[in-house]
Amino acid sequence: MENFKVGQYPGKTKVATKEEIIEKLEQTYRKKNIQMLGFYSSDLDCIIDDPAFMLVPIDERMLNRSHGVFDSMAITKFRFFRLTQHLQRFENSAKKVGIQMPMSIDQIKEIMMDLASFSYKKLYEQNNQADLEGTVLNIRIWLSSGRGDFGIYSNDKKPIFYACTFIPTTPYDKLKEGVKEFTVNLGQHEIENIQQAKSISYLENAIIANASKSKGGYLGIKVDENGFLLEASIASIGMVLKNKEFVSPPADKIIEGTTLKKCMQYIEKELIPQGYIKAAERRYFDLQYVHENVQEFILFGGDKIIPVLQLNDKQINDGQKGPICQMIQDWFKNQKQDLGDELVDVSFLKNEKNN
Ligand SMILES: Cc1ncc(COP(=O)(O)O)c(C=O)c1O
Repeated sequence: MENFKVGQYPGKTKVATKEEIIEKLEQTYRKKNIQMLGFYSSDLDCIIDDPAFMLVPIDERMLNRSHGVFDSMAITKFRFFRLTQHLQRFENSAKKVGIQMPMSIDQIKEIMMDLASFSYKKLYEQNNQADLEGTVLNIRIWLSSGRGDFGIYSNDKKPIFYACTFIPTTPYDKLKEGVKEFTVNLGQHEIENIQQAKSISYLENAIIANASKSKGGYLGIKVDENGFLLEASIASIGMVLKNKEFVSPPADKIIEGTTLKKCMQYIEKELIPQGYIKAAERRYFDLQYVHENVQEFILFGGDKIIPVLQLNDKQINDGQKGPICQMIQDWFKNQKQDLGDELVDVSFLKNEKNN
């Protein structure tokens, strides 16, 4: 890049100073619908008493991948109800989704006790006439598989324990007199909506990715109850068959990949007319079908086209990147502006030579 002088940031969205950040956090997050009394994060290893700062980082895996577990319990009459049982469930849940405890259960218990006692003290200081013994507190605890990037794996991350005490607003006095209920049976359409949405429910994907990664794989490929390959943990899949067909699973149970969709245009507009590919189709296939028919197996995601050279320790074709994958990669790299692309305003970059 040539020498540039940096001018003004041209955007309308405010960039906050440190003081403004604190002011905004206080203004926005101090007001809650419930009273939050104390917060603990093992990353910070301290109790935070100001709700404005009871925050988790944006790269948290609980937020990005649903890769966390939690539990919740009541504290009434200065007593944790079934604390041991809740902690056993918490520990078991963590094991089930492959998250290591960052500290012992005894240490977690001690922190929870400290938070509870801190919360009672805070309530007493707020109102020394309050019926502390009759006040119902809640504590919610979380174990996250970590943070540090927005990636899919947690194998390389440090788990984080969080806890928060609060006064719940559930109107138990009213509820205990009785309620109405409804059964809800999610139909095929609603289930598919959930499967097709790029929701933050990536727990299954995160576990699949960790499992593949721990064996030396890359993303891990999800297989459904019928044995059909669906998609990789964060990419779509497609394969070129020995008979020159291109096949990819239908998008009814998975996320519609924009990278695959774009590459399909190239396959349809160029590779088929030029005879490199015979036809492109979306249909289900299982592992046996892959092993018997595959010529090239390709991952498509996040504007990356990645050849799979081995699947379950079996070489794909000659174990080298295939010519179709190479052509798609070359075409993709040389993409000119496309419908839907938008140019970023970098008018603040002023070429020194011309100024
Ligand atoms: C589960 C899943 N499928 C497919 C994709 C591919 O989508 P795209 O090509 O739009 O990045 C992604 C991308 O993150 C994904 O997470």
